[in-house]
Amino acid sequence: MSRWMSLIMGVLFFLVVGCSNISVANSYPNNKLEHKLKDDHLMVIAHRGASGYAPEHTMAAYELAKKQGADYIEIDLQMTKDGDLIAMHDDTVDRTTNGHGQVKALTLKKIKQLDAGSWFNKANPDQAKASYKGLKVPTLEEIIRHFGNSVNYYIEMKKPQEYGKMNQSLLDILKKHHLIGSGEKKGHVIIESFDADSLKSIHREFPEVETIQLGDASKMSLSTIKNYAVGVGPDVTTMNRAFIKRAHELGLVVHVWTVNDRETMEELKRWQVDAVFTNYDDQARAMIEAQ
Ligand code: G3P
Ligand code: CA
Repeated sequence: MSRWMSLIMGVLFFLVVGCSNISVANSYPNNKLEHKLKDDHLMVIAHRGASGYAPEHTMAAYELAKKQGADYIEIDLQMTKDGDLIAMHDDTVDRTTNGHGQVKALTLKKIKQLDAGSWFNKANPDQAKASYKGLKVPTLEEIIRHFGNSVNYYIEMKKPQEYGKMNQSLLDILKKHHLIGSGEKKGHVIIESFDADSLKSIHREFPEVETIQLGDASKMSLSTIKNYAVGVGPDVTTMNRAFIKRAHELGLVVHVWTVNDRETMEELKRWQVDAVFTNYDDQARAMIEAQ
C-alpha cells in the first residue's frame, strides 16, 4: 500500500473513531450523568439498606448492603419533635419498632429507647438474628459519621412540606460532612422525593446536587422535571419501555423502584434502565455480573 494510501486510511480511521466518541457524549446534554456513562452498568440501590435480610433503616441493613456491593444505600428521612433527621420510612414508629406514635410527636431521646430490630425477626423468622434484637433507629448524622466516604448516599425526604425545616436541615448536614458543595465528588449523594417543590428549591440552592423526581410514570411531565432533576424514579408498576426511551432522549436517567425479582431485574436491564431499588441488592449484583 503506497505511503499516501496509508496516510489517507489513517486520517479516515481517526475521523470515524473521533466522531463516534463525540456523539455519545452529546446524547446526554447535561454532563451530570458522567458517572453513569463511564461504565454503563446498571446501578444497584439498596432499598432501605439490605432490607430483605436485615431490619430496614438500621446500621445492620446498611452494613450488609455495603458488604454486598450496592452502589448506593437508600435512606428515607423523617424528622423528630426536636428537629433531628432519622432514618425511617413510615411517619409513625409502629411498624418498625416496639413503640407507638408519630415521629414528629416523639423526641430523639424517646426514639432512641425503642427496639428497631425485633419486629424483623418476628416477621422474617428465616432471616432472624439475635443481634437484630434491640437495634437502634439511626440519625442521618450517625449514618454519615459511620460510613463517611465509603458508601454513596441515596436520600429520600419524606413529606418535606410537612417538616418545613427538612430541606435546610438535610443540606446543612450534607455540607457539614463535605458531601455537597462546590468541589465535592459528584454522584456521592443523590436526593430523591415525591415532592417536586422541595427538589426545585434544592436545585436552586445547589444546582450541582443530583436530584431524582419520584412518582407514577404516567403522571410525570419529563420536560418539566428536566429543569430541576437529573432523572426520574418511577414505580415499576407504572412504567414501560417507551417511558425509559423518552426519558433518555431528554437526558434523564431512570431509577426504578422497587424490584425484588430476578425476572423483572433482567427485563429492566434489557430496557436499559439506569438503576434499580431493591431489597435484595446481592441478587441484582449477581444478575449483573452473570450477564
Ligand atoms: O424511594 C424510592 C422508593 O423507595 C419509594 O418508595 O415507599 O419505599 O420509599 P418507598
Ligand atoms: Ca424511599
